[in-house]
Amino acid sequence: MDQATQLRKLTEGNTSLKLVSSTKPMTKIIAIASGKGGVGKSTISVNLAISMAKAGQKVLVFDGDLGLANVNVILGIIPKYNLYHVVKGHKSLKDIIIQAPEGVDIIAGASGYSQLANLNDTQRNNLIKGFADLDSYDYMIIDTGAGISSNVIGLTLPADDVIVVTTPEPTAITDSYGLIKAIVSQSRDKNLKMVVNRVRSAIEGKKVADRVIDISGQFLEVRVENLGFIFQDDEVEKSIREQKPYIIHSPKSKAAACLNRITYSLLNQEMEGGDDSGITGFFKKFFNFVDVREKQQSEEE
Ligand SMILES: Nc1ncnc2c1ncn2[C@@H]1O[C@H](COP(=O)(O)OP(=O)(O)OP(=O)(O)O)[C@@H](O)[C@H]1O
Ligand SMILES: [Mg+2]
Repeated sequence: MDQATQLRKLTEGNTSLKLVSSTKPMTKIIAIASGKGGVGKSTISVNLAISMAKAGQKVLVFDGDLGLANVNVILGIIPKYNLYHVVKGHKSLKDIIIQAPEGVDIIAGASGYSQLANLNDTQRNNLIKGFADLDSYDYMIIDTGAGISSNVIGLTLPADDVIVVTTPEPTAITDSYGLIKAIVSQSRDKNLKMVVNRVRSAIEGKKVADRVIDISGQFLEVRVENLGFIFQDDEVEKSIREQKPYIIHSPKSKAAACLNRITYSLLNQEMEGGDDSGITGFFKKFFNFVDVREKQQSEEE
């Protein structure tokens, strides 16, 4: 049993732990962004969410691609209501949540309603109030639109981690550097991570990531981490045509294996890294406490 499943099992049977973890858990926010469009952000957002949920995490996907929302399309769901109705005050965020497989919740975007940045005060308040009312999540994954518009950069600012997606195409690589530059000009405290999608070999994935990491280090003095690569895989296209995420449609595919490895790295960093926020921090402290107690008890014996 992996660590995440163990944690889930532990909370299921223990009310006191449940109470503590649901009082004020901090949700870790991951924005998925790219310079060039069409590199696989939305596909990665949905599949990553489901893969994380399979590992025992409670995940919300927020479709922040406000101009061309399509997370729901990947899932084959037609939402009755979307963010537009929330902003107008007709619906609450809770009303518009869509259920995806593995208990993943989705907040659908509103196609053709592009300017989140241009909302008036009432509309902004409707949205902010809605978020405060939501259940607690371990992770919120924000699927952003392509490019470096203020909406996209704005959505990366509340994020703890920004996963920059590129493909090996030279234009996509150049644009991912442009995106990193735009993010860094606003904030230097993000954990920037690269995923190289649609690679033909592991070496190609590493080469592309290294290039972006090197130039970002050299010219922007910022550290970007290589989170991994995803193979070019016909199963991804098939799964999109059938509107079923590939992690479920083709769990044995090369792409799914790569994606699970990325999930594993992300969750493992949380468990081992210096991050003491949110639910993982809670469990880290809890386990530290248990370790100390056990030591004390064995010394007393
Ligand atoms: N690993 C992969 N192997 C093969 N095809 C892929 C892979 N990842 C993505 N694709 C293809 O790329 C297309 C675009 O993916 P997706 O819609 O996720 O990109 P996006 O970055 O969200 O685009 P946009 O910038 O328009 O929001 C998919 O429809 C799929 O056909
Ligand atoms: Mg998209």
